[in-house]
Amino acid sequence: METSVVKTENLAKIYDGTKAVDDLNLEIKEGEIFGFLGPNGAGKTTTILMILGLTEPTSGKVKVYGYDATREPLKIRRLTGYLPENIGFYEDLTARENLIYITRLNRIPDKKALPKIEEVLEKVGLSEVADLEVRKFSKGMKQRLGMGAVLVKEPKFAILDEPTTGIDPEGVEQILKLIKEMSEQQNITILLSSHLLYQVQRICDRVGIISKGRMVAQGSIDEVGKKIMKGEHISIETQLTKVTPDLLDSIRKIQGVVDIEKSGSSLLIKCERDLREDISRTIIENGAIPLQIKTQDYTLEEIYIRYFQEE
Ligand SMILES: Nc1ncnc2c1ncn2[C@@H]1O[C@H](COP(=O)(O)OP(=O)(O)O)[C@@H](O)[C@H]1O
Ligand SMILES: [Mg+2]
Repeated sequence: METSVVKTENLAKIYDGTKAVDDLNLEIKEGEIFGFLGPNGAGKTTTILMILGLTEPTSGKVKVYGYDATREPLKIRRLTGYLPENIGFYEDLTARENLIYITRLNRIPDKKALPKIEEVLEKVGLSEVADLEVRKFSKGMKQRLGMGAVLVKEPKFAILDEPTTGIDPEGVEQILKLIKEMSEQQNITILLSSHLLYQVQRICDRVGIISKGRMVAQGSIDEVGKKIMKGEHISIETQLTKVTPDLLDSIRKIQGVVDIEKSGSSLLIKCERDLREDISRTIIENGAIPLQIKTQDYTLEEIYIRYFQEE
């Protein structure tokens, strides 16, 4: 049975008259990597703080494993690991000492915590630098230590707020791989927030696109793209044996064709609906053969252009 780990109902947060989060309905299912994606200022961090019961909703509800985030935040925090956007460590303590500090803070007995810490350091690839003071760490290393801080708590659910932001490409790969492993090997449900759609989408089972505090669409990238594209023009791409002016004219006359772009023997035809049949027929009637005809898969691009491009 699919159970939800997080469920929000018309969640809203208003700061001084500005709606940071607006009527948000979000659902995260057990076992998935949920990409919570949207540009800077969209309301991701505010939503996360409400999920953790760290800030109170102006209206609406959040439940995590069935617990109300306002009334029972401690129950939620016991089950959840949280990697904040800008995690701070004690810079003059070593990586290992920082993790020991965290397990003690969480009242995990040393006997249990110490072997766990070694295991986690290994997992996040920091065993060899465990005795190095954190101030000598790169941003990527600190972020992996942050993932370690989440893992020592053995959470069922992990909230990672912008874990790949500000890290070099190799560091990003390491973090994404770690997240995937947390999900696959340890069965941890993951909320991964990011403003970098292209970077993180490939490891997400489902995504929710948030823009100006509102959830625009939720589902697989494919479903979300389709939803966003609904009512929009679709592009049909075709490759022909030859393109004549008469043929272009005939295609232009098909009802529902909005625009044609020609490049060599390929056409990109913008239509109001899927007109592949009509277009194929017209091509053949004009003495050419469609070597290939397909609808263009531009969904991710559309999501990006519409919601993620920085102005
Ligand atoms: N503590 C706060 N006080 C006032 N406004 C805030 C506060 N936190 C966030 N905001 C505003 O709420 C909006 C959403 O911010 P945030 O949740 O941090 O977005 P994101 O994490 O998606 O970048 C922004 O306009 C931001 O300026
Ligand atoms: Mg944020």
